[in-house]
Amino acid sequence: MKTAEIDLFDLELFADGPPHDVFRRLREEAPVCFLPEPNGPGYWAVTGYDLVFEVSRHPQLFGSNPNTMIKDVDGDGGGAGEIMLNQDAPRHTQLRKLVNRGFTPRQITILEPRIREIVGRLLDAAAAKGTFDLVADVSVELPLQVIAELVGVPEAERHTVFAWTEKMMSLDDPDLGGTVDDARAAMAEMFAYADGLCGQRAGGDGTDLLSVLLAAEVDGDRLSQMDVDLFFMLLMNAGSETTRNLITGGVNTLFQHLDERARLAADPGLLPSAIEEMLRWVTPVMHFRRTARADTELGGQAIAEGDKVAMWYVSANRDETAFPDADRFDVGRTPNEHVAFGAGGPHFCLGASLARLEARVMFEELVTRFPDLEPAGPPRRLRSNFIHGIKELPVRIPSQ
Ligand code: HEM
Repeated sequence: MKTAEIDLFDLELFADGPPHDVFRRLREEAPVCFLPEPNGPGYWAVTGYDLVFEVSRHPQLFGSNPNTMIKDVDGDGGGAGEIMLNQDAPRHTQLRKLVNRGFTPRQITILEPRIREIVGRLLDAAAAKGTFDLVADVSVELPLQVIAELVGVPEAERHTVFAWTEKMMSLDDPDLGGTVDDARAAMAEMFAYADGLCGQRAGGDGTDLLSVLLAAEVDGDRLSQMDVDLFFMLLMNAGSETTRNLITGGVNTLFQHLDERARLAADPGLLPSAIEEMLRWVTPVMHFRRTARADTELGGQAIAEGDKVAMWYVSANRDETAFPDADRFDVGRTPNEHVAFGAGGPHFCLGASLARLEARVMFEELVTRFPDLEPAGPPRRLRSNFIHGIKELPVRIPSQ
């Protein structure tokens, strides 16, 4: 395949996981390459590590508004253009300051005992089954329960909210969402639900994130109901649809690399570096897009104002110039400056410490409780070029 013939919207390419051979060719032959998109003008695919940093660290030149998805949604996208993820300074800076307060390292660290309790409950229930779906029974539940608790969603309603996030995040997968209309309907339902929750919280002294946002002021103004709804949507989506794929993808990777799994079992002190390597290897969020604010040059290519530019994190994370022996999964890899949470800049993942903590506790417990966990069937992959996800991973505890 010539680079000119590559189409990263051909989702068949992602059927067995990210097409690393295609990304390698792009990095070697055309690390900034103009590629097609369905029903759109096309976009620049940036696949080299240093080039991804160059885009991410220059937000004045490569902006996030109107959209960080490659494909623009018709019309106003139901308000999606207004989420913090898709905003530039100064609006982004104001919004980010507000939520940062809920995600300081201190606030995240104090969650550890509660996270361990949730993990313990999930693994006890899984152990009782013996054979189970790691995704539904474990990976989905931890991030969902944690973010729902932080935001303040009552326990009984969490799975309803999760079903909406699935519809919004899995547009290309016919099993889950399907059409843009389904995604829009899910978004509308989520907003109506968030309005109701806010009605119960407004004026109260709750410590959940929703109550905090309702009471917060930006330059003397309160956030509008729409702003709060949008935060709700962003946090529920970003908080539950990503970390679960790190957990499932991490377990699946250990199944495929038994030597590295044995190394980790023999030396649990390697867990922090193993989690970073899982982040690099899996790259749950495969790309985000920016839009050029002026005519410029990137990697020798002339980029025109208004052009779409996609940072393919999943490719940068296998770039040999940044990671020696990049196609080797190495639980002891240091340094490991992967770009799974973004490549610096103002939008760097808000939930990075939370995701790392959830993954660390989960793998500490998994490795000690189920040292012999084994696959009980093949993984079923999400059909997407955006989220690197596994929908189902049957596993079994052999002694059961
Ligand atoms: C393994 C899990 C996760 C991965 C791989 C991931 C990945 C990312 C990436 C690549 C970005 C964009 C960075 C950029 O454009 O520079 C991002 C942004 C974001 N993430 Fe995460 N994320 C994860 C978990 C979480 C969690 C648990 C939360 C919960 C709050 C979260 C909330 C957000 C938010 C709100 C943004 C937008 C930040 C902004 O626009 O300022 N993420 N994430």
